[in-house]
Amino acid sequence: MAASIDPCTIVIFGASGDLTKRKLVPALYHLAVEHRLPRGFSVVGCARSQMNDNEFRHQMRAAVNEFSRSGLENEAVWEDFARRLYYLSGDYQDPGAYLRLAQSLAKLDREHPAGGNNIFYLSTPPDLYAPVVQRIAAAGLAGGDDRSKGRTRIVIEKPFGGDLGTFDESQVYRIDHYLGKETVQNILVFRFANAVFEPIWNRRYVDHVQITAAEIVGVESRGAYYEKAGVLRDMFQNHLFQLLCLTAMEPPVAFNADAMRDEKVKVLRSVRPVSLRDVEEFAVRGQYRRGTVDREEVKAYREEAGVARDSNTETYAALKLLIDNWRWEGVPFYLRSGKRLPKRLTEIAIHFKRPPLLLFKACAIEQVSPNVLVLRIQPNEGISLTFEVKPPGPEICLSSLSLDFNYQAAFGGVQPEAYETLLVDCMRGDSTLFTRYDWIELAWSLLTPFLQAWKGTAPQGFPNYGAGTWGPDEADALIAREGRQWRRQFEMGPGA
Ligand code: BG6
Repeated sequence: MAASIDPCTIVIFGASGDLTKRKLVPALYHLAVEHRLPRGFSVVGCARSQMNDNEFRHQMRAAVNEFSRSGLENEAVWEDFARRLYYLSGDYQDPGAYLRLAQSLAKLDREHPAGGNNIFYLSTPPDLYAPVVQRIAAAGLAGGDDRSKGRTRIVIEKPFGGDLGTFDESQVYRIDHYLGKETVQNILVFRFANAVFEPIWNRRYVDHVQITAAEIVGVESRGAYYEKAGVLRDMFQNHLFQLLCLTAMEPPVAFNADAMRDEKVKVLRSVRPVSLRDVEEFAVRGQYRRGTVDREEVKAYREEAGVARDSNTETYAALKLLIDNWRWEGVPFYLRSGKRLPKRLTEIAIHFKRPPLLLFKACAIEQVSPNVLVLRIQPNEGISLTFEVKPPGPEICLSSLSLDFNYQAAFGGVQPEAYETLLVDCMRGDSTLFTRYDWIELAWSLLTPFLQAWKGTAPQGFPNYGAGTWGPDEADALIAREGRQWRRQFEMGPGA
C-alpha cells in the first residue's frame, strides 16, 4: 500500500518562471481535484518579481486554465487551493529574504499545520542552486537530525551537479520527469511482472536495441539555455540514459529506492566508455537548418533567439553504446534524439535476432523480418510486438503483423502528468523515481568524451539536417555500418 502523504509546505524558488506555470502548479491543482493533497498543505512561491499573494493567485489561475490537463474544471476546488497559495518576493542572494521566508513558514505552519515539513523546490537557473541552498541552511531551514521538528527536502531540476552542501543525499530529490511518466514506469512492470519476456531479454535473443526521443519542437524560448546545453546534456544525460537503464537493468532485489537505483547504477558502470579518439565511430551530431515541420515553415537553429549565428551546438545526436556485462555483451544500444524532427515520438524498440532462414528458402523467401517489441512511451502510449504470419493462400509467403496494446483503449481517461506522480512521491519521501548522485556522476563521465570531442573540433557541414527530416545522413551511416537501420515504421503516418 502507498505510504500516506504527510502535511507539508512547498516553497518554489523561481515561482514566476515557466515550470511553475506550466507544470508545478497545474500538477498540484490536479492533486487537489483528486483529493490527494494532505490537509495541512500550502505553497509559497518565491521570486524576484514584486507581487502580492492575490496577484500570484491570479497568475496561477490563468496558468491552470491554460496548462492543466483538463483546464480549471472545479471552481470550488480552485478556491480552496488558491487560499493555500502565497507569494514572497526577494533577491535569491539576499540573506534577509530567507529570514523573511523562515518567518512566513512559521506563520503558515499555524494556519495550515504542516508539522514543520518543508519541501524546497529549486526551479531557478542552476547557477543559483548553490547560493539558494546555502542561504536556506544559513536561515536555519535545512532541518537536521531532529525529525520531531519536521522534515526538509530539496528538489532540483537538471542540470545536476555541484555541491548541495548541508543537505544529506536522502533529502535531495533530483527530478527527471521521464521517470514520472506512466509508460516509463510500466517498463519495469512489463519486464518483471511477466514471465515470458525476461528469458529472451538478453544477448542470445536480442540483436540490438533502439531508443528514440524525437521532438517536433525547436528550442522555443529557451535558446540561451540550449546554446550552452545541446542535446547531450538536455536529453541524453537524463531521459535517454534513464530509458537505457530501465531497459537493460537486472531485476532489483526489491522495489524500493536503493535497490532500484543500485541496479541502474550497475548498468551505467557496465557501459563501455568511449575514448576521445573513438567518438566518431560511436556518435553523430547534427544541427537543424530551416525547413518545414508539420506543414509549417520554421527557422534554422542559428536563427533562433539567444543562439549564436555561427553556433556549433548540437540539436541532434545519435550514439551507439555497448554494455559489457553477461546479459548484453555484443548487443549495441543505439540512442537518438533531436529537435525539429518530423514527429513527436519516444520509444524503445527491442530488435530480436532473425530466425534461421533455411526452412523457407525453398519457398524463395530470402528475408524474414525479425520480431520487434516496441515500448511506446509517447504519444499513443502502448506496446506492440511484430511477428510474421502466413497470409491465406496456396503459396507459403510471409507478412509482418503486429499485436498492439494501447493504454488509452485499455484504460481510457487521461494519464496523470509526470509531475503529479513525482510531487506526490517527494511528499511521501519515496525517492525511487528520483536520480541518485552516483548515477549522475557516471552519466556525466560517460558523456564527457563526446562533449569534449565536440567542443574541441568544429562540426562538419553544420547545419546538417533540415527541420522536418529524421536527422543527418551520418546518423543513418552510423547504424548502417553494422548492417542495421533505424526503425522507419513509425515514420509512415500518425499512430503507426
Ligand atoms: C526536457 C528538455 O527535459 O524534456 C526539453 O529540457 C524537452 O528540451 C523535454 O523538450 C521533452 O519532454 P517531453 O515530456 O515533452 O518528452
